[in-house]
Amino acid sequence: MPSIKILDKEFVPYLSEQTIQEKIAELAIQLNKDYEGKKPLFLSILNGSFLFTADLFKQITIEAEVSFIKLASYKGTSSTGNVITAIGLDINVKDRHIVILEDIIDTGKTLHHYLPQLANMQPASVKIAVLLNKKEALQFPVDIDYSCIDIPNKFVVGYGLDYDGLGRNNKAIYQLKED
Ligand code: XMP
Ligand code: MG
Repeated sequence: MPSIKILDKEFVPYLSEQTIQEKIAELAIQLNKDYEGKKPLFLSILNGSFLFTADLFKQITIEAEVSFIKLASYKGTSSTGNVITAIGLDINVKDRHIVILEDIIDTGKTLHHYLPQLANMQPASVKIAVLLNKKEALQFPVDIDYSCIDIPNKFVVGYGLDYDGLGRNNKAIYQLKED
C-alpha cells in the first residue's frame, strides 16, 4: 500500500482494511453473545466512530439500537480541560444496557469526563468498546471493556479518523511518518 499525503503531512500504511474488518467481526461475535436478550443501546461518539459503528452494527444480529452523540473537548486553563456535549442524547437511557463505541482512546479525557454524566441518567450498565487503544497515552482513568487493536502512541488517520478534518475516507489506517 502506498503512503498518503494529507495537507503538510505524510502517513504510512499501518492497519489494512482486512485487519480492521477481521477485528470488528470478532468484536461483533463477542457482543452478540454478551448482549443476547439485553437489547443493548450502542452509543457512538461522533465524528470519528461513524465508520466503525456502521461496520460493527451491520454484524450485530441480536435485537439492538444505535444512537449518536458528539463530544468536543476544550483546553481551558486547567490541565484537565473541559468536555462539552455538542450533540446530546435524544433518547431515555434509564435502565438500558449501553455500549459506548469509540474509534480511539488516547488520553481518556473525553470518556473520563462524559461517563459520570451518563451514569446520572441511570442506565442498567455501561461498557466501552474501542477500535484502537493507545494504551501508553492514557492519562485519565477509563476502563475499556472491549478493545480491538492496541496501538503505540503515534498519530493515526483513516477509517473515520482525521487530520484537521481530512483523511477519514480511507478504508485503511495510516500512521504519521517519522522524519
Ligand atoms: P482522548 O484523549 O479524549 O481522545 O481519549 C479521544 C479522541 O481524540 C481524537 N484522537 C485522534 N484522532 N488520530 C486521530 O485522528 C489520533 O491518533 C487520535 N488520537 C486521539 C479522537 O477524536 C478521539 O475520539
Ligand atoms: Mg473521536
